[in-house]
Amino acid sequence: GHRYTGLIERYRDRLPVHDDTRIISLGEGNTPLIRLNNVPRHIGRDVELYVKFEGLNPTGSFKDRGMTMAVTKAVEEGSEAIICASTGNTSASAAAYAARAGITAFVVIPDGKIAMGKLAQAMMHGSVVIQIEGNFDDGMRLVKQVAESAPVTLVNSVNPFRLQGQKTAAFEIVEELGRAPDYHCLPVGNAGNITAHWIGYCELSASSGEHVTEACTFCKGHCRFAGGGVAGQRPKMVGYQASGSAPFLRGAMVDHPETVATAIRIGHPQSWDVAWKVQKESGGWFDECTDDEILAAQKLLAEKEGVFCEPASAASVAGALRDIQAGRIPEGSSVVCTLTGHGLKDPDAAIAQAGSAPLKVAAELDAVTRAILDNLG
Ligand code: F0G
Repeated sequence: GHRYTGLIERYRDRLPVHDDTRIISLGEGNTPLIRLNNVPRHIGRDVELYVKFEGLNPTGSFKDRGMTMAVTKAVEEGSEAIICASTGNTSASAAAYAARAGITAFVVIPDGKIAMGKLAQAMMHGSVVIQIEGNFDDGMRLVKQVAESAPVTLVNSVNPFRLQGQKTAAFEIVEELGRAPDYHCLPVGNAGNITAHWIGYCELSASSGEHVTEACTFCKGHCRFAGGGVAGQRPKMVGYQASGSAPFLRGAMVDHPETVATAIRIGHPQSWDVAWKVQKESGGWFDECTDDEILAAQKLLAEKEGVFCEPASAASVAGALRDIQAGRIPEGSSVVCTLTGHGLKDPDAAIAQAGSAPLKVAAELDAVTRAILDNLG
C-alpha cells in the first residue's frame, strides 16, 4: 500500500538500520514545505521563500526525526532506558518515543524557562522529569557524565543516530524542489540540526561513493552517499542565534544565556567544531537576532501566512528577512527556513505578545453584530 510509516521506512537504504531492526516510529517526517507569498510581498523582495514546517511532526518539533533513529538503535542495542538534557522539545520527543518503545525516559530540564506545552508532554508520556537548579548547559554536562556509568542511553544530538534521522529533512526538500535551495536558514542552539541538514545535502550531491565533507567525521561512518540530488549542488547554510545566547557570534562559550526563545537558550553548543566546518564548507554564515526581532517574525508568519511556530523557530525567518532586505541573500534566490517547533508549544509566549485581548460582549445578537461591524477590514 501507500501508507506513510515514518522516515526510517522511507529512507531505509540511507539510514543505519538492518532488515530485522524493530523500528520505533510515530509516523514522523514528511512535513510540508510551504511557499510564502504574503511575506515576500510585504517586504517588497522577489525571493522564492519556503518554510519547512517541522512543527507538524508527531510531538510538534523536528526532534522526532532524530528520536525515531536514536530510540530504534537504543532498543536494538538492548537498552531499557534513555536520558537527555533538554530545553523542552527533546524531552517531549524522548518521552513519546520511549512510551512507544516500552522503555523508560529520564529527562533533565532547567528550573523554569521551559515552555508549558513541552513540560506537559514530558509528564503526559510518563517520563521521569528531573528539574535541576541550573540551565540546559548544566543539564548537558550532567547527563553526559551519568550516561558513562548508569544503564541509560544518551539521546541528545551527541548521539550520532540523532543526526542521521534529522538529515532526512534535507532529502525531503530536495525531492520537492528538484534541487537544493540556494540558502537554508535555521535557528541554532547546539548546532546539531544545521549539521544534520548539511550531512543530508552532502549525501545527495555526492556523485561518487565518497565522503565529501569534513562534517562527515561527525557521522562516525553511518553516512550512505547515495546521490539523488544535483551533483555538487548544495545550499549555503545560515545559522541564526538569539542575541543573548549567541556563542557562535561571540566566538566563545556564553555562561549565562538568556532569550525569550527558551528552546535555544544554550551557551555551550555541543556541535561547536563541526558547525564551524559546516559554515565554512557551505559558504554560509552565522548571525544573531534580538528577542524583539524573533517575536516580530513569529507574529508576521502567524498573521500574514497562517503559520504558527514557536519563538526559537522564528529566528530563522527573522534573520532571513533581514539578510534578504540587506541584499546579503540576493533577489531571485531560493531560500528554505526551517520552522523547528509548533507555536502551540509555548502558549504563554504567544499570548504575552499577542497585543489584543478577546472582545468581551453580552451574549446577545446586537452586541455580537456590533462587534463585527466595528472590526471589519
Ligand atoms: N529550535 C527548536 C524549537 C529547538 O527545540 C531547538 C533545540 C533548536 C531550534 C536548536 O536546534 O540544538 O540542533 O541547534 N532544542 C533542544 C531541546 C536543545 O532540548 O529541545 P540545535
